[in-house]
Amino acid sequence: MQQAWIDLPPRLRVGDKTVRVEQHLGSGAFGDVYKVRDEARSKVYALKDVLCLNASQVLDAIREAVTLCQISHENIIAIKGADRFVDNQSNLHMFILTEYCAGGNLNERLARPSSERINWKWMSQAADAVAYLHRNDVVHRDLKPENVLLNGRGNVKLADFGLAREYIALRRVDARRNDGSWMQMFVQYYMDSDVGSPYWLAPECFAGHYTEKADVFSLGLLFFAILERDYKESNGKMYYGAFKRIRGVGKVGLGAAMAMYNPETDIAFSRRAQGSRDVQRLVIEALQYDPDDRPSAVELCNKLEETEDLDLEWLFRLLSEDST
Ligand SMILES: Nc1ncnc2c1ncn2[C@@H]1O[C@H](COP(=O)(O)OP(=O)(O)OP(=O)(O)O)[C@@H](O)[C@H]1O
Ligand SMILES: [Mg+2]
Repeated sequence: MQQAWIDLPPRLRVGDKTVRVEQHLGSGAFGDVYKVRDEARSKVYALKDVLCLNASQVLDAIREAVTLCQISHENIIAIKGADRFVDNQSNLHMFILTEYCAGGNLNERLARPSSERINWKWMSQAADAVAYLHRNDVVHRDLKPENVLLNGRGNVKLADFGLAREYIALRRVDARRNDGSWMQMFVQYYMDSDVGSPYWLAPECFAGHYTEKADVFSLGLLFFAILERDYKESNGKMYYGAFKRIRGVGKVGLGAAMAMYNPETDIAFSRRAQGSRDVQRLVIEALQYDPDDRPSAVELCNKLEETEDLDLEWLFRLLSEDST
């Protein structure tokens, strides 16, 4: 992946803020993320830098990011501004400034054990956030453990919602290899990347379809990852999710296994998985092949809330646990 960050000057203007780059936090499929500081206001933010090709697409993406600034929920990362930037080699960048999450991402966090109480908190906060996005007609499109960030208090902050379509349009993608559907471009882009098949996507995404029920499938995968802790290793990195082992191929994400091998593919929790039976049943409902068989995010959220009160098994385990 191209390292855009070496071209960045130490101080950058993003909307009405001037920030100093302090640290490179990581790289994703569409760009680099930095910890930056607004010295005038003594505030720390995260800055996402997406290297772009096309000026008009940048403006569209910035317009969308500015619209997304109005999304306000305690478990969704707040967007603080967006801007474009031309570096000293005349490359065009899009900057998105967001709140900074000191706790890192959930994919990293899942490598360490956590209590039932913490698992339930992560699941209910993520479901609440997705339900809020759907109520506001925003589809996340890129919901995976790496886009679930944790703040300094360990609370969920969903990142990168609503923007994947623009990212994909902005980066160097050979559009001739697909039929023009952005979702197929998105899938192809990940297939070509180090991660391989995008393991967090619903089966219909592999045919280029994406509705809010695909977010529900991804939410189911996220919950499965939290409770089961199954992962696939790729280039020395562990990716948590729900996988099926395909003979001669190895571990494949559940959505890809359903889309490419067998729509009847099902998944079950192992005996060592965490979570009560009611919660596990809910997760399996979200992971149905047919989008119509999945609950809506709002239903999922409500049903999950019910399990907190009704589940004596879960409460019993909770009492005998540390709160890590
Ligand atoms: N607001 C933030 N606060 C703290 N760390 C962040 C923030 N946003 C992203 N990061 C970190 O930066 C790294 C790169 O994030 P980025 O979103 O570019 O990639 P990704 O989530 O792995 O994949 P994708 O490009 O599909 O979103 C991740 O490891 C993530 O934990
Ligand atoms: Mg991300």
